Amino acid sequence: MFMRTILAGAMALGLTSAAGAAELKLGYSLAPTSHYGVSATAMGEELARLTNGKWTIKQFPANALGGEREMVEGLQIGTVDLVVTSTGPVGNFVPDTLLTDIPFLFRDYKHAHAVLDGPIGQRILDQFPKNGLIALAWGENGFRNLTNSKRPIRTPDDARGLKVRTMENQVHMQAFRTIGVLPTPMAFPELFTALQQGTVDGQENPIGVILSAKFPQVQKYLSLTQHVYSPALILMSPSVWNKLDAKEKEAFQQAAKVGAAAMRKKAFEDAQNGVEELRKQGMEVVTDLDRKAFEEALKPAFAEYAKRFGQAKIDEIRNYQ
Ligand code: PAF
Repeated sequence: MFMRTILAGAMALGLTSAAGAAELKLGYSLAPTSHYGVSATAMGEELARLTNGKWTIKQFPANALGGEREMVEGLQIGTVDLVVTSTGPVGNFVPDTLLTDIPFLFRDYKHAHAVLDGPIGQRILDQFPKNGLIALAWGENGFRNLTNSKRPIRTPDDARGLKVRTMENQVHMQAFRTIGVLPTPMAFPELFTALQQGTVDGQENPIGVILSAKFPQVQKYLSLTQHVYSPALILMSPSVWNKLDAKEKEAFQQAAKVGAAAMRKKAFEDAQNGVEELRKQGMEVVTDLDRKAFEEALKPAFAEYAKRFGQAKIDEIRNYQ
């Protein structure tokens, strides 16, 4: 009877229990070999080590638990335990994460890491619990680049009129609308087919994602726009978190740190080495972007962001050293 109660409790938590061990469901949108997969493995190993095998992680890659928005909803209602996600849909749950989605905000990786790992990043992470989520660590998706099936894009004029899939993210959509692109928000699991069938002309993602999702099969042109830095987050369900003791919470946080570091390393390596591979797979790569023209064309969007978030908050990130 006692055992049955423990088992029922564990199952209510979404855990499978074997000799006191608990297995958590971790979902993400990419392949196991991607930066998200590498991160999930590193985190799982560290968590098992720190808790002597009490807590382990079972991975559900490639959207097996749904798209990113659905997985985050799953965390809130306790049907999913852990998620590695871009910030794409997260602003719909924790509005201040949208600040990190502003185009051309971060100068480089060093700048992004300093902001996210410092007091500004922590302030945003601290807002998750009141929105029914636990944020364990900032990870990395990487700088996003535009691909399409129509033509090489060097300037905003070249991009005008394209139908581009964006994440379900208001800041990104506003930016594309401002330069005359028709933004089409869509969950990632629907994207490959949409590109294949021509429902949309293009999409934008970091190099590692473009590789991992096999987009060269359906996209001819890649422009290294680097138009926005895309952070990732390792999130957890409060229904598991609230049952942990202080030492276990520390173990999860430490394991997430290890997972985030592995994610950043792999995303960076893909960004460095992946372009050559994408060329080999038949993509025509535009490297001489007119970045100034894109920043100029985005000015009305920047004015809207200032109205929405306050210029001081944006400048605090932009000027952070
Ligand atoms: O484009 C997206 O939706 C995201 O960048 C992805 C590929 C799901 C990774 O988080």
